[in-house]
Amino acid sequence: MNKKTVQKTNLFFTGLLSRMEENKLFFNDITINFKSGTKDFPAKILYGDEIMLDYQAVKRTVERDEIWDIIAEEMLKYDSAQIIYSERGAKIVIDASDKRVNMRHEDVTAEVSKTSVVQTGREYVVNPALAKDLLTEIGILAKNGKIKNDKIRKYNQIDYFVELMQGVLKEIGERDEYVILDAACGKSYLSFVLNFYMREILKKRCRFIGVDYSETVITASKRIAEKLGYNNMEFIQADLTEYTPSARPDIVISLHACDTATDMALALGIRAKSRAIVSVPCCHKDILKQYAYAPFEAITRHGILKARLADTLTDGIRAAYLESVGYKVSMIEYISPLETPKNIMIRAVYTDRKNEKSARDYNNLKEMLNVNPAIERFLRR
Ligand SMILES: C[S@@+](CC[C@H](N)C(=O)[O-])C[C@H]1O[C@@H](n2cnc3c(N)ncnc32)[C@H](O)[C@@H]1O
Repeated sequence: MNKKTVQKTNLFFTGLLSRMEENKLFFNDITINFKSGTKDFPAKILYGDEIMLDYQAVKRTVERDEIWDIIAEEMLKYDSAQIIYSERGAKIVIDASDKRVNMRHEDVTAEVSKTSVVQTGREYVVNPALAKDLLTEIGILAKNGKIKNDKIRKYNQIDYFVELMQGVLKEIGERDEYVILDAACGKSYLSFVLNFYMREILKKRCRFIGVDYSETVITASKRIAEKLGYNNMEFIQADLTEYTPSARPDIVISLHACDTATDMALALGIRAKSRAIVSVPCCHKDILKQYAYAPFEAITRHGILKARLADTLTDGIRAAYLESVGYKVSMIEYISPLETPKNIMIRAVYTDRKNEKSARDYNNLKEMLNVNPAIERFLRR
Protein backbone atom coordinates (compact mmCIF):
# COMPACT_ATOMS: atom_id res chain seq x y z
CA MET A 1 0.00 0.00 0.00
CA ASN A 2 1.17 3.51 -0.69
CA LYS A 3 1.51 6.44 1.70
CA LYS A 4 -1.82 8.00 0.60
CA THR A 5 -3.68 4.81 1.54
CA VAL A 6 -1.92 4.73 4.89
CA GLN A 7 -2.85 8.37 5.58
CA LYS A 8 -6.51 7.78 4.71
CA THR A 9 -6.61 4.73 6.97
CA ASN A 10 -5.12 6.77 9.79
CA LEU A 11 -8.15 9.10 9.77
CA PHE A 12 -10.48 6.17 10.50
CA PHE A 13 -8.10 4.36 12.83
CA THR A 14 -7.60 7.40 15.09
CA GLY A 15 -11.35 7.42 15.71
CA LEU A 16 -11.26 3.75 16.64
CA LEU A 17 -8.49 4.29 19.19
CA SER A 18 -10.46 7.07 20.88
CA ARG A 19 -13.52 4.83 20.94
CA MET A 20 -11.46 2.01 22.46
CA GLU A 21 -10.43 4.30 25.33
CA GLU A 22 -13.89 5.75 25.84
CA ASN A 23 -15.57 2.34 25.80
CA LYS A 24 -12.85 0.47 27.64
CA LEU A 25 -15.40 -1.45 29.74
CA PHE A 26 -17.03 -2.86 26.61
CA PHE A 27 -13.99 -3.19 24.33
CA ASN A 28 -13.11 -6.68 23.04
CA ASP A 29 -10.19 -6.25 20.63
CA ILE A 30 -8.95 -4.83 17.34
CA THR A 31 -7.75 -7.41 14.85
CA ILE A 32 -5.69 -6.44 11.84
CA ASN A 33 -5.16 -8.72 8.92
CA PHE A 34 -2.37 -7.61 6.59
CA LYS A 35 -2.54 -9.34 3.24
CA SER A 36 0.12 -10.03 0.63
CA GLY A 37 -1.18 -12.01 -2.34
CA THR A 38 -3.04 -14.90 -0.76
CA LYS A 39 -1.05 -14.81 2.49
CA ASP A 40 -2.48 -13.41 5.73
CA PHE A 41 -0.46 -11.76 8.50
CA PRO A 42 -2.69 -11.25 11.55
CA ALA A 43 -2.18 -8.88 14.46
CA LYS A 44 -4.31 -8.16 17.51
CA ILE A 45 -4.64 -5.23 19.92
CA LEU A 46 -5.94 -5.95 23.43
CA TYR A 47 -6.65 -3.49 26.22
CA GLY A 48 -6.58 -4.61 29.84
CA ASP A 49 -4.48 -2.79 32.42
CA GLU A 50 -2.30 -1.72 29.49
CA ILE A 51 -2.45 -1.88 25.69
CA MET A 52 -0.96 -5.08 24.23
CA LEU A 53 0.01 -5.82 20.64
CA ASP A 54 0.11 -9.44 19.53
CA TYR A 55 1.96 -9.61 16.22
CA GLN A 56 4.35 -12.08 14.57
CA ALA A 57 4.22 -14.42 17.56
CA VAL A 58 5.29 -11.68 19.99
CA LYS A 59 2.92 -10.19 22.55
CA ARG A 60 4.15 -6.90 24.00
CA THR A 61 2.99 -3.78 25.76
CA VAL A 62 2.70 -0.71 23.55
CA GLU A 63 2.02 2.94 24.21
CA ARG A 64 -1.16 4.34 22.73
CA ASP A 65 0.79 6.81 20.56
CA GLU A 66 3.06 4.08 19.18
CA ILE A 67 0.28 1.92 17.78
CA TRP A 68 -0.43 3.83 14.64
CA ASP A 69 3.28 4.17 13.73
CA ILE A 70 3.68 0.40 13.98
CA ILE A 71 0.62 -0.29 11.84
CA ALA A 72 1.51 2.38 9.30
CA GLU A 73 5.00 0.93 8.83
CA GLU A 74 3.56 -2.55 8.30
CA MET A 75 0.87 -1.36 5.89
CA LEU A 76 3.56 -0.07 3.51
CA LYS A 77 4.85 -3.66 3.20
CA TYR A 78 1.53 -5.31 2.25
CA ASP A 79 -1.11 -5.19 -0.52
CA SER A 80 -4.12 -4.64 1.71
CA ALA A 81 -5.30 -4.69 5.31
CA GLN A 82 -8.58 -5.34 7.07
CA ILE A 83 -8.99 -3.81 10.53
CA ILE A 84 -11.86 -5.09 12.68
CA TYR A 85 -12.75 -3.16 15.84
CA SER A 86 -14.94 -5.18 18.19
CA GLU A 87 -16.72 -4.13 21.37
CA ARG A 88 -19.80 -5.63 23.04
CA GLY A 89 -22.72 -4.74 20.76
CA ALA A 90 -20.65 -3.19 17.92
CA LYS A 91 -18.29 -4.15 15.14
CA ILE A 92 -16.53 -1.68 12.82
CA VAL A 93 -14.57 -2.82 9.80
CA ILE A 94 -11.97 -0.84 7.83
CA ASP A 95 -10.90 -2.25 4.46
CA ALA A 96 -7.76 -0.63 3.12
CA SER A 97 -6.03 -1.06 -0.22
CA ASP A 98 -4.67 1.35 -2.84
CA LYS A 99 -7.99 1.00 -4.71
CA ARG A 100 -10.07 2.28 -1.77
CA VAL A 101 -10.24 2.77 1.96
CA ASN A 102 -13.65 2.40 3.55
CA MET A 103 -15.16 1.93 6.95
CA ARG A 104 -18.47 0.23 7.78
CA HIS A 105 -20.45 -0.62 10.90
CA GLU A 106 -21.73 -4.18 11.10
CA ASP A 107 -24.91 -5.02 12.96
CA VAL A 108 -23.80 -7.74 15.33
CA THR A 109 -27.37 -8.63 16.21
CA ALA A 110 -28.49 -9.07 12.61
CA GLU A 111 -26.82 -12.45 12.32
CA VAL A 112 -29.59 -14.07 14.33
CA SER A 113 -33.20 -14.02 13.17
CA LYS A 114 -35.72 -12.45 15.53
CA THR A 115 -38.15 -15.35 15.24
CA SER A 116 -39.48 -16.97 18.38
CA VAL A 117 -37.77 -19.99 19.80
CA VAL A 118 -39.84 -22.96 18.72
CA GLN A 119 -38.87 -24.81 21.89
CA THR A 120 -41.16 -22.68 24.09
CA GLY A 121 -43.25 -20.70 21.63
CA ARG A 122 -42.27 -17.45 23.33
CA GLU A 123 -40.62 -14.68 21.40
CA TYR A 124 -37.88 -13.78 23.83
CA VAL A 125 -36.66 -10.24 24.35
CA VAL A 126 -33.17 -11.67 24.66
CA ASN A 127 -33.19 -14.29 21.93
CA PRO A 128 -31.23 -17.26 23.31
CA ALA A 129 -29.48 -17.76 19.97
CA LEU A 130 -28.18 -14.20 20.12
CA ALA A 131 -26.93 -14.56 23.69
CA LYS A 132 -25.59 -18.07 23.12
CA ASP A 133 -22.16 -17.58 24.72
CA LEU A 134 -23.62 -15.91 27.79
CA LEU A 135 -26.46 -18.39 28.29
CA THR A 136 -24.15 -21.35 27.79
CA GLU A 137 -21.73 -19.94 30.35
CA ILE A 138 -24.44 -19.46 32.98
CA GLY A 139 -25.80 -22.92 32.33
CA ILE A 140 -29.15 -22.00 30.73
CA LEU A 141 -28.32 -23.40 27.29
CA ALA A 142 -27.14 -26.94 26.68
CA LYS A 143 -24.29 -27.71 24.26
CA ASN A 144 -26.85 -28.29 21.46
CA GLY A 145 -27.94 -24.64 21.78
CA LYS A 146 -31.31 -25.47 23.36
CA ILE A 147 -32.54 -24.19 26.70
CA LYS A 148 -32.11 -26.99 29.23
CA ASN A 149 -35.49 -28.39 30.27
CA ASP A 150 -34.95 -27.58 33.92
CA LYS A 151 -33.93 -24.00 33.06
CA ILE A 152 -36.87 -23.03 30.84
CA ARG A 153 -38.87 -21.58 33.73
CA LYS A 154 -35.91 -19.70 35.13
CA TYR A 155 -35.12 -18.22 31.74
CA ASN A 156 -38.76 -17.27 31.17
CA GLN A 157 -38.78 -15.45 34.51
CA ILE A 158 -35.59 -13.58 33.68
CA ASP A 159 -36.68 -12.67 30.18
CA TYR A 160 -40.07 -11.36 31.35
CA PHE A 161 -38.28 -9.34 34.02
CA VAL A 162 -35.99 -7.87 31.35
CA GLU A 163 -38.98 -7.12 29.10
CA LEU A 164 -40.65 -5.14 31.89
CA MET A 165 -37.50 -3.10 32.46
CA GLN A 166 -38.17 -1.30 29.16
CA GLY A 167 -40.94 0.76 30.77
CA VAL A 168 -38.79 1.52 33.82
CA LEU A 169 -35.90 2.70 31.65
CA LYS A 170 -38.29 5.01 29.82
CA GLU A 171 -39.65 6.41 33.06
CA ILE A 172 -36.27 7.25 34.55
CA GLY A 173 -35.25 8.87 31.25
CA GLU A 174 -32.13 8.80 29.11
CA ARG A 175 -28.87 8.71 31.07
CA ASP A 176 -25.20 8.77 30.00
CA GLU A 177 -24.63 5.61 31.99
CA TYR A 178 -27.06 3.42 33.91
CA VAL A 179 -25.96 2.02 37.25
CA ILE A 180 -27.94 -1.08 38.18
CA LEU A 181 -27.64 -2.66 41.60
CA ASP A 182 -28.79 -6.27 41.97
CA ALA A 183 -29.64 -6.79 45.64
CA ALA A 184 -29.35 -10.44 46.76
CA CYS A 185 -27.98 -11.25 43.31
CA GLY A 186 -27.31 -14.95 43.91
CA LYS A 187 -25.47 -16.24 40.85
CA SER A 188 -26.56 -13.03 39.08
CA TYR A 189 -28.32 -14.66 36.11
CA LEU A 190 -30.76 -11.75 35.96
CA SER A 191 -27.96 -9.18 35.95
CA PHE A 192 -26.01 -11.04 33.29
CA VAL A 193 -29.00 -11.19 30.95
CA LEU A 194 -30.07 -7.60 31.67
CA ASN A 195 -26.50 -6.47 31.05
CA PHE A 196 -26.57 -8.27 27.69
CA TYR A 197 -29.90 -6.66 26.83
CA MET A 198 -28.81 -3.15 27.79
CA ARG A 199 -25.43 -3.28 26.12
CA GLU A 200 -25.71 -5.60 23.15
CA ILE A 201 -29.33 -4.86 22.21
CA LEU A 202 -30.10 -1.33 23.47
CA LYS A 203 -26.43 -0.24 23.07
CA LYS A 204 -26.50 1.67 26.36
CA ARG A 205 -23.58 2.34 28.67
CA CYS A 206 -24.28 0.53 31.90
CA ARG A 207 -22.59 -0.71 35.04
CA PHE A 208 -23.80 -3.51 37.27
CA ILE A 209 -23.15 -4.08 40.96
CA GLY A 210 -24.25 -7.41 42.42
CA VAL A 211 -24.51 -7.69 46.20
CA ASP A 212 -25.03 -10.88 48.16
CA TYR A 213 -23.75 -12.11 51.51
CA SER A 214 -22.87 -15.56 50.20
CA GLU A 215 -19.20 -15.87 49.32
CA THR A 216 -19.92 -18.83 47.03
CA VAL A 217 -22.30 -16.95 44.73
CA ILE A 218 -20.13 -13.83 44.65
CA THR A 219 -17.08 -15.90 43.66
CA ALA A 220 -19.12 -17.72 41.00
CA SER A 221 -20.50 -14.44 39.59
CA LYS A 222 -17.01 -12.87 39.43
CA ARG A 223 -15.67 -15.90 37.61
CA ILE A 224 -18.46 -15.85 35.01
CA ALA A 225 -18.06 -12.09 34.40
CA GLU A 226 -14.33 -12.53 33.92
CA LYS A 227 -14.81 -15.42 31.52
CA LEU A 228 -17.31 -13.45 29.45
CA GLY A 229 -15.18 -10.28 29.50
CA TYR A 230 -18.03 -8.35 31.14
CA ASN A 231 -15.79 -5.67 32.62
CA ASN A 232 -18.73 -3.44 33.52
CA MET A 233 -19.83 -5.74 36.35
CA GLU A 234 -18.62 -5.92 39.93
CA PHE A 235 -19.74 -8.21 42.72
CA ILE A 236 -19.60 -7.41 46.39
CA GLN A 237 -19.97 -9.79 49.29
CA ALA A 238 -22.01 -7.88 51.88
CA ASP A 239 -25.12 -7.99 53.96
CA LEU A 240 -27.80 -5.84 52.34
CA THR A 241 -28.56 -4.15 55.66
CA GLU A 242 -24.98 -2.92 55.93
CA TYR A 243 -24.25 -2.04 52.33
CA THR A 244 -24.54 1.47 50.91
CA PRO A 245 -23.32 2.11 47.36
CA SER A 246 -20.79 4.88 46.79
CA ALA A 247 -22.93 6.51 44.08
CA ARG A 248 -26.66 6.84 43.56
CA PRO A 249 -27.94 3.83 41.58
CA ASP A 250 -30.39 4.33 38.74
CA ILE A 251 -32.21 1.07 39.40
CA VAL A 252 -32.11 -1.39 42.28
CA ILE A 253 -33.38 -4.78 41.14
CA SER A 254 -34.07 -7.88 43.17
CA LEU A 255 -35.47 -11.21 42.16
CA HIS A 256 -36.77 -13.69 44.70
CA ALA A 257 -34.86 -12.32 47.68
CA CYS A 258 -36.24 -14.53 50.44
CA ASP A 259 -38.73 -13.13 52.95
CA THR A 260 -37.33 -9.95 54.55
CA ALA A 261 -34.35 -9.86 52.15
CA THR A 262 -36.85 -8.22 49.76
CA ASP A 263 -37.48 -5.55 52.42
CA MET A 264 -33.72 -5.15 52.78
CA ALA A 265 -33.48 -4.61 49.01
CA LEU A 266 -36.30 -2.06 49.06
CA ALA A 267 -34.77 -0.31 52.07
CA LEU A 268 -31.39 -0.25 50.31
CA GLY A 269 -33.01 1.33 47.25
CA ILE A 270 -34.68 3.99 49.41
CA ARG A 271 -31.49 4.64 51.41
CA ALA A 272 -29.40 4.97 48.25
CA LYS A 273 -32.08 7.23 46.67
CA SER A 274 -32.32 4.90 43.68
CA ARG A 275 -34.25 6.41 40.78
CA ALA A 276 -36.22 3.19 40.50
CA ILE A 277 -36.63 -0.06 42.39
CA VAL A 278 -37.91 -3.21 40.72
CA SER A 279 -38.44 -6.19 42.95
CA VAL A 280 -40.07 -9.59 42.63
CA PRO A 281 -40.52 -10.85 46.20
CA CYS A 282 -40.13 -14.44 47.29
CA CYS A 283 -41.76 -15.99 50.36
CA HIS A 284 -43.53 -13.72 52.91
CA LYS A 285 -43.10 -14.72 56.54
CA ASP A 286 -42.53 -11.50 58.45
CA ILE A 287 -46.10 -10.12 58.50
CA LEU A 288 -47.57 -13.64 58.70
CA LYS A 289 -45.78 -14.12 62.01
CA GLN A 290 -47.08 -10.83 63.38
CA TYR A 291 -50.52 -9.94 62.14
CA ALA A 292 -53.83 -10.35 63.88
CA TYR A 293 -57.10 -8.72 62.87
CA ALA A 294 -60.25 -9.72 64.73
CA PRO A 295 -62.82 -8.95 61.95
CA PHE A 296 -60.95 -11.43 59.71
CA GLU A 297 -60.96 -14.17 62.35
CA ALA A 298 -63.29 -16.40 60.25
CA ILE A 299 -60.70 -16.27 57.45
CA THR A 300 -57.43 -16.28 59.35
CA ARG A 301 -58.28 -19.32 61.46
CA HIS A 302 -57.54 -21.30 58.28
CA GLY A 303 -53.74 -21.41 58.07
CA ILE A 304 -53.54 -21.40 54.29
CA LEU A 305 -55.86 -18.41 53.98
CA LYS A 306 -53.99 -16.55 56.69
CA ALA A 307 -50.75 -17.14 54.75
CA ARG A 308 -52.23 -16.06 51.41
CA LEU A 309 -53.65 -12.94 52.97
CA ALA A 310 -50.27 -12.22 54.58
CA ASP A 311 -48.63 -12.28 51.12
CA THR A 312 -51.01 -9.59 49.90
CA LEU A 313 -50.77 -7.56 53.10
CA THR A 314 -46.96 -7.65 53.00
CA ASP A 315 -46.74 -6.34 49.44
CA GLY A 316 -49.50 -3.80 50.05
CA ILE A 317 -47.67 -2.49 53.12
CA ARG A 318 -44.42 -2.32 51.13
CA ALA A 319 -46.16 -0.34 48.37
CA ALA A 320 -47.71 2.14 50.83
CA TYR A 321 -44.33 2.68 52.49
CA LEU A 322 -42.57 3.25 49.16
CA GLU A 323 -45.24 5.78 48.18
CA SER A 324 -44.97 7.53 51.52
CA VAL A 325 -41.26 8.21 50.87
CA GLY A 326 -41.80 9.51 47.32
CA TYR A 327 -42.02 6.57 44.94
CA LYS A 328 -44.80 5.99 42.42
CA VAL A 329 -45.63 2.30 42.71
CA SER A 330 -47.24 -0.19 40.37
CA MET A 331 -47.88 -3.83 41.18
CA ILE A 332 -48.12 -6.30 38.35
CA GLU A 333 -48.41 -10.01 37.84
CA TYR A 334 -45.26 -10.20 35.79
CA ILE A 335 -45.46 -13.80 34.67
CA SER A 336 -48.07 -16.57 34.64
CA PRO A 337 -48.55 -18.30 38.02
CA LEU A 338 -47.93 -21.55 36.16
CA GLU A 339 -44.28 -20.45 35.76
CA THR A 340 -43.95 -19.48 39.43
CA PRO A 341 -46.41 -18.53 42.16
CA LYS A 342 -43.89 -15.86 43.23
CA ASN A 343 -44.96 -13.66 40.38
CA ILE A 344 -45.80 -10.22 41.74
CA MET A 345 -43.51 -7.45 40.59
CA ILE A 346 -43.19 -4.22 42.58
CA ARG A 347 -42.15 -1.35 40.32
CA ALA A 348 -41.31 1.89 42.05
CA VAL A 349 -40.09 5.07 40.35
CA TYR A 350 -38.86 8.02 42.40
CA THR A 351 -40.96 11.17 42.02
CA ASP A 352 -39.58 13.45 44.73
CA ARG A 353 -43.13 13.88 46.08
CA LYS A 354 -43.92 12.18 49.38
CA ASN A 355 -47.45 10.81 49.41
CA GLU A 356 -49.09 11.94 52.67
CA LYS A 357 -52.17 9.80 52.13
CA SER A 358 -50.07 6.67 51.66
CA ALA A 359 -48.16 7.56 54.84
CA ARG A 360 -51.47 7.70 56.71
CA ASP A 361 -52.65 4.45 55.09
CA TYR A 362 -49.39 2.79 56.06
CA ASN A 363 -49.65 3.89 59.68
CA ASN A 364 -53.31 2.81 59.83
CA LEU A 365 -52.42 -0.63 58.48
CA LYS A 366 -49.64 -1.00 61.03
CA GLU A 367 -51.95 -0.12 63.87
CA MET A 368 -54.92 -2.14 62.63
CA LEU A 369 -52.89 -5.30 62.00
CA ASN A 370 -50.59 -4.75 64.96
CA VAL A 371 -47.42 -5.18 62.90
CA ASN A 372 -43.96 -3.70 62.73
CA PRO A 373 -43.07 -4.10 59.02
CA ALA A 374 -39.54 -5.12 58.05
CA ILE A 375 -39.11 -2.41 55.40
CA GLU A 376 -39.35 0.28 58.10
CA ARG A 377 -37.25 -1.69 60.58
CA PHE A 378 -34.38 -1.86 58.09
CA LEU A 379 -34.51 1.87 57.50
CA ARG A 380 -34.58 2.77 61.16
CA ARG A 381 -31.37 0.89 62.01
C1 LIG B 1 -33.41 -17.30 46.31
S1 LIG B 1 -31.85 -16.53 46.12
C2 LIG B 1 -32.18 -15.51 44.73
C3 LIG B 1 -30.94 -15.19 43.97
C4 LIG B 1 -31.13 -14.45 42.65
N1 LIG B 1 -31.67 -13.13 42.83
C5 LIG B 1 -31.98 -15.26 41.70
O1 LIG B 1 -33.11 -14.87 41.40
O2 LIG B 1 -31.49 -16.30 41.25
C6 LIG B 1 -31.78 -15.39 47.46
C7 LIG B 1 -30.40 -14.77 47.67
O3 LIG B 1 -30.50 -13.80 48.71
C8 LIG B 1 -29.27 -13.75 49.41
N2 LIG B 1 -29.50 -13.06 50.68
C9 LIG B 1 -30.42 -13.35 51.64
N3 LIG B 1 -30.34 -12.49 52.66
C10 LIG B 1 -29.34 -11.62 52.37
C11 LIG B 1 -28.75 -10.50 53.04
N4 LIG B 1 -29.19 -10.12 54.24
N5 LIG B 1 -27.75 -9.85 52.43
C12 LIG B 1 -27.29 -10.23 51.23
N6 LIG B 1 -27.80 -11.29 50.54
C13 LIG B 1 -28.80 -11.98 51.10
C14 LIG B 1 -28.90 -15.22 49.50
O4 LIG B 1 -27.51 -15.41 49.76
C15 LIG B 1 -29.31 -15.73 48.13
O5 LIG B 1 -28.26 -15.72 47.22
